[in-house]
Amino acid sequence: MGTALLGILLAGGLIAVVLVFFYTLRTGVPVVSSSAGARELMLDLVPVNFRGTLVELGSGWGALTVPLATQNPDCPVIAVELSPVPWLVLHVLRRVFRLHNLQILRGDFFKMSLVPADMVFCYLLPRTMERLAVKLHEELRPGSLVVSNSFPLPGWQRVSAYPIPDDADGNFVVVYEA
Ligand SMILES: C[S@@+](CC[C@H](N)C(=O)[O-])C[C@H]1O[C@@H](n2cnc3c(N)ncnc32)[C@H](O)[C@@H]1O
Repeated sequence: MGTALLGILLAGGLIAVVLVFFYTLRTGVPVVSSSAGARELMLDLVPVNFRGTLVELGSGWGALTVPLATQNPDCPVIAVELSPVPWLVLHVLRRVFRLHNLQILRGDFFKMSLVPADMVFCYLLPRTMERLAVKLHEELRPGSLVVSNSFPLPGWQRVSAYPIPDDADGNFVVVYEA
């Protein structure tokens, strides 16, 4: 019985690792969480008493999603993630932390409408940001904000940028307005 359980756990773990690897190849972006310093900066950028819709494109393990939803209980928070293992983990976290304002969507954000977003958060890579710049330009309503960890949105004029204190490479959290 004990050996069977161990076998199931090991097989489950192996499948999870393979899935994470496969989806990293598919999206071209690894499931790496924003650092504590970057998260703090991004969370501070949500205005006090904000009531808009917060959308995180590629929520990963929920390192930003959970505090975002916790600190803004009056805002609908939409987390989009393609990779099934982190998506599943975020469902567990949603239950554990009772995040009733958090909606978790599994899918490719390039195939979803981003029109409802008042504030978009992302931590992606340059090739994805290039495609995203076009999509956000076409879909975001005027005045909506984009907050990007480290990677710029090509063709967009930044509104402000904040150095990430715990980033050895000197990266910034950058803010854009549609
Ligand atoms: C670097 S992680 C960032 C995780 C989280 N946003 C954070 O800051 O801690 C980027 C995530 O975006 C997801 N991702 C990349 N491209 C995607 C796409 N087109 N649709 C949905 N998710 C995507 C990846 O699977 C990965 O989990």
